[in-house]
Amino acid sequence: MSVRIAVLVSGGGTNLQALIDAEKEGRIPSGRICLVLASRADAYALERAKAAGIDTAVVVRKEYDSQAAFDTAILNELHAHQIDMVILAGYLSILSETVIKEYENRMINIHPSLIPSFCGKGFYGLKVHEAALQRGVKVTGATVHIVNEIPDGGRILLQKAVAIQDGDTPEILQRRVMEEAEWILLPKAAEMIARQIEEERTV
Ligand code: GRF
Repeated sequence: MSVRIAVLVSGGGTNLQALIDAEKEGRIPSGRICLVLASRADAYALERAKAAGIDTAVVVRKEYDSQAAFDTAILNELHAHQIDMVILAGYLSILSETVIKEYENRMINIHPSLIPSFCGKGFYGLKVHEAALQRGVKVTGATVHIVNEIPDGGRILLQKAVAIQDGDTPEILQRRVMEEAEWILLPKAAEMIARQIEEERTV
Protein backbone atom coordinates (compact mmCIF):
# COMPACT_ATOMS: atom_id res chain seq x y z
CA MET A 1 0.00 0.00 0.00
CA SER A 2 1.46 3.39 -0.99
CA VAL A 3 3.02 5.68 1.59
CA ARG A 4 0.61 8.60 2.07
CA ILE A 5 2.41 11.91 1.51
CA ALA A 6 1.42 15.44 2.54
CA VAL A 7 3.13 18.38 0.82
CA LEU A 8 3.24 21.62 2.83
CA VAL A 9 3.39 24.80 0.76
CA SER A 10 3.29 28.61 1.01
CA GLY A 11 3.94 29.90 -2.49
CA GLY A 12 3.74 29.22 -6.21
CA GLY A 13 4.12 25.46 -5.80
CA THR A 14 6.64 24.75 -8.55
CA ASN A 15 8.27 22.13 -6.31
CA LEU A 16 4.82 20.65 -5.64
CA GLN A 17 4.25 20.56 -9.40
CA ALA A 18 7.52 18.67 -9.86
CA LEU A 19 6.28 16.12 -7.32
CA ILE A 20 2.85 15.83 -8.98
CA ASP A 21 4.46 15.34 -12.41
CA ALA A 22 6.94 12.80 -11.03
CA GLU A 23 4.16 10.77 -9.40
CA LYS A 24 2.14 10.82 -12.64
CA GLU A 25 5.23 9.62 -14.57
CA GLY A 26 5.76 6.75 -12.13
CA ARG A 27 8.92 8.21 -10.56
CA ILE A 28 7.52 8.03 -7.01
CA PRO A 29 6.20 4.43 -7.06
CA SER A 30 6.37 4.05 -3.26
CA GLY A 31 4.28 7.07 -2.39
CA ARG A 32 1.14 8.97 -3.21
CA ILE A 33 0.45 12.69 -2.56
CA CYS A 34 -2.79 12.63 -0.54
CA LEU A 35 -2.83 16.18 0.85
CA VAL A 36 -1.50 19.63 0.02
CA LEU A 37 -1.57 21.86 3.11
CA ALA A 38 -0.93 25.58 2.64
CA SER A 39 0.02 28.25 5.18
CA ARG A 40 -2.05 30.82 3.27
CA ALA A 41 -5.30 30.66 1.29
CA ASP A 42 -3.90 32.49 -1.74
CA ALA A 43 -0.95 30.14 -2.35
CA TYR A 44 -1.04 29.27 -6.05
CA ALA A 45 0.19 25.80 -5.04
CA LEU A 46 -3.42 25.12 -3.98
CA GLU A 47 -4.59 25.62 -7.58
CA ARG A 48 -2.01 23.10 -8.74
CA ALA A 49 -3.25 20.58 -6.15
CA LYS A 50 -6.90 21.06 -7.16
CA ALA A 51 -6.04 20.65 -10.84
CA ALA A 52 -4.40 17.34 -9.93
CA GLY A 53 -7.40 16.21 -7.85
CA ILE A 54 -5.46 16.27 -4.57
CA ASP A 55 -7.19 17.17 -1.28
CA THR A 56 -6.17 20.57 0.10
CA ALA A 57 -6.21 22.31 3.47
CA VAL A 58 -5.24 25.77 4.67
CA VAL A 59 -3.91 26.33 8.20
CA VAL A 60 -2.91 29.94 8.85
CA ARG A 61 -0.62 30.55 11.84
CA LYS A 62 -2.02 34.01 12.73
CA GLU A 63 -5.51 32.50 13.08
CA TYR A 64 -4.29 30.60 16.16
CA ASP A 65 -3.53 32.21 19.47
CA SER A 66 -0.57 29.96 20.19
CA GLN A 67 2.03 27.81 18.48
CA ALA A 68 0.59 24.81 20.30
CA ALA A 69 -2.90 25.44 18.89
CA PHE A 70 -1.40 25.85 15.41
CA ASP A 71 0.61 22.62 15.74
CA THR A 72 -2.55 20.79 16.84
CA ALA A 73 -4.43 22.08 13.79
CA ILE A 74 -1.62 20.91 11.51
CA LEU A 75 -1.50 17.47 13.18
CA ASN A 76 -5.29 17.15 12.98
CA GLU A 77 -5.16 17.63 9.21
CA LEU A 78 -2.27 15.16 8.83
CA HIS A 79 -4.06 12.56 10.98
CA ALA A 80 -7.38 13.08 9.17
CA HIS A 81 -5.61 12.17 5.94
CA GLN A 82 -3.63 9.31 7.56
CA ILE A 83 -0.38 10.88 6.43
CA ASP A 84 2.83 8.80 6.73
CA MET A 85 5.34 11.30 5.37
CA VAL A 86 5.60 15.09 5.05
CA ILE A 87 7.41 17.14 2.38
CA LEU A 88 8.07 20.85 3.03
CA ALA A 89 8.10 22.49 -0.42
CA GLY A 90 8.58 26.21 0.00
CA TYR A 91 6.72 26.08 3.33
CA LEU A 92 7.33 29.18 5.44
CA SER A 93 5.51 28.60 8.73
CA ILE A 94 7.39 27.34 11.77
CA LEU A 95 6.59 23.80 12.88
CA SER A 96 7.43 23.08 16.50
CA GLU A 97 9.24 20.02 17.80
CA THR A 98 5.88 18.37 18.57
CA VAL A 99 5.09 18.03 14.87
CA ILE A 100 8.67 17.31 13.80
CA LYS A 101 9.09 14.54 16.43
CA GLU A 102 5.88 12.83 15.30
CA TYR A 103 7.33 12.61 11.77
CA GLU A 104 10.95 12.00 12.83
CA ASN A 105 12.93 10.78 9.82
CA ARG A 106 9.72 11.01 7.75
CA MET A 107 9.74 14.77 7.06
CA ILE A 108 11.95 16.29 4.34
CA ASN A 109 12.65 19.86 3.17
CA ILE A 110 14.10 21.40 0.02
CA HIS A 111 16.48 24.29 0.63
CA PRO A 112 17.80 26.41 -2.27
CA SER A 113 21.51 26.34 -1.37
CA LEU A 114 24.29 23.82 -0.74
CA ILE A 115 23.88 23.43 3.02
CA PRO A 116 25.77 24.41 5.24
CA SER A 117 26.08 27.56 3.13
CA PHE A 118 23.36 30.19 3.27
CA CYS A 119 20.96 28.32 5.52
CA GLY A 120 19.34 28.57 8.95
CA LYS A 121 17.27 31.33 10.45
CA GLY A 122 16.31 34.07 7.99
CA PHE A 123 17.60 32.24 4.90
CA TYR A 124 14.58 31.49 2.70
CA GLY A 125 13.33 32.27 -0.81
CA LEU A 126 15.17 35.05 -2.64
CA LYS A 127 17.20 35.94 0.46
CA VAL A 128 19.25 32.78 -0.04
CA HIS A 129 20.21 33.76 -3.59
CA GLU A 130 20.86 37.39 -2.61
CA ALA A 131 23.32 36.14 0.02
CA ALA A 132 25.07 33.81 -2.46
CA LEU A 133 25.49 36.63 -5.01
CA GLN A 134 26.58 39.02 -2.28
CA ARG A 135 29.27 36.57 -1.11
CA GLY A 136 30.42 36.04 -4.68
CA VAL A 137 30.32 32.22 -4.67
CA LYS A 138 30.81 30.64 -8.11
CA VAL A 139 28.68 27.59 -7.37
CA THR A 140 25.43 27.24 -5.44
CA GLY A 141 22.65 24.63 -5.71
CA ALA A 142 19.96 22.91 -3.67
CA THR A 143 19.77 20.47 -0.79
CA VAL A 144 17.09 18.05 0.38
CA HIS A 145 17.45 17.15 4.04
CA ILE A 146 15.60 15.43 6.85
CA VAL A 147 13.80 17.99 9.03
CA ASN A 148 14.82 18.06 12.67
CA GLU A 149 14.56 20.69 15.42
CA ILE A 150 17.47 22.73 14.00
CA PRO A 151 16.42 24.93 11.03
CA ASP A 152 17.99 23.31 7.90
CA GLY A 153 20.03 21.15 10.32
CA GLY A 154 18.84 17.62 9.61
CA ARG A 155 20.69 14.80 7.80
CA ILE A 156 21.45 15.75 4.19
CA LEU A 157 19.84 13.38 1.67
CA LEU A 158 20.67 14.84 -1.76
CA GLN A 159 22.48 17.88 -3.17
CA LYS A 160 22.99 19.24 -6.68
CA ALA A 161 25.34 22.06 -7.72
CA VAL A 162 24.37 24.92 -10.03
CA ALA A 163 26.88 27.35 -11.58
CA ILE A 164 26.41 31.06 -11.00
CA GLN A 165 26.67 33.04 -14.23
CA ASP A 166 27.81 36.62 -14.89
CA GLY A 167 24.89 38.99 -14.68
CA ASP A 168 22.77 36.71 -12.50
CA THR A 169 20.15 38.53 -10.46
CA PRO A 170 18.59 36.81 -7.43
CA GLU A 171 15.47 36.10 -9.54
CA ILE A 172 17.43 34.58 -12.45
CA LEU A 173 19.53 32.50 -10.08
CA GLN A 174 16.46 31.31 -8.14
CA ARG A 175 14.85 30.11 -11.34
CA ARG A 176 17.99 28.26 -12.47
CA VAL A 177 18.40 26.59 -9.06
CA MET A 178 14.76 25.47 -9.20
CA GLU A 179 15.01 24.14 -12.78
CA GLU A 180 18.44 22.52 -12.52
CA ALA A 181 18.35 21.30 -8.93
CA GLU A 182 15.19 21.59 -6.80
CA TRP A 183 12.72 20.09 -9.24
CA ILE A 184 15.11 17.18 -9.89
CA LEU A 185 16.14 16.45 -6.30
CA LEU A 186 12.79 16.64 -4.50
CA PRO A 187 11.01 13.82 -6.37
CA LYS A 188 14.11 11.62 -6.01
CA ALA A 189 14.30 12.27 -2.27
CA ALA A 190 10.55 11.69 -1.91
CA GLU A 191 10.89 8.23 -3.45
CA MET A 192 14.00 7.47 -1.34
CA ILE A 193 12.18 8.15 1.95
CA ALA A 194 8.84 6.66 0.88
CA ARG A 195 10.63 3.45 -0.08
CA GLN A 196 12.44 3.37 3.29
CA ILE A 197 9.11 3.75 5.10
CA GLU A 198 7.54 1.01 2.98
CA GLU A 199 10.50 -1.34 3.66
CA GLU A 200 10.26 -0.67 7.40
CA ARG A 201 6.62 -1.76 7.22
CA THR A 202 7.52 -5.12 5.70
CA VAL A 203 10.17 -6.11 8.28
C1 GRF B 1 11.57 28.78 -3.64
O1 GRF B 1 12.43 29.82 -3.19
C2 GRF B 1 12.26 27.47 -3.44
O2 GRF B 1 13.65 27.60 -3.64
C3 GRF B 1 12.01 27.16 -2.02
O3 GRF B 1 10.69 27.63 -1.79
C4 GRF B 1 10.40 28.72 -2.69
C5 GRF B 1 9.07 28.55 -3.35
O4 GRF B 1 9.07 27.44 -4.16
N1 GRF B 1 12.14 25.75 -1.77
P1 GRF B 1 7.71 26.85 -4.83
O5 GRF B 1 7.64 27.39 -6.23
O6 GRF B 1 6.53 27.32 -3.99
O7 GRF B 1 7.88 25.37 -4.80
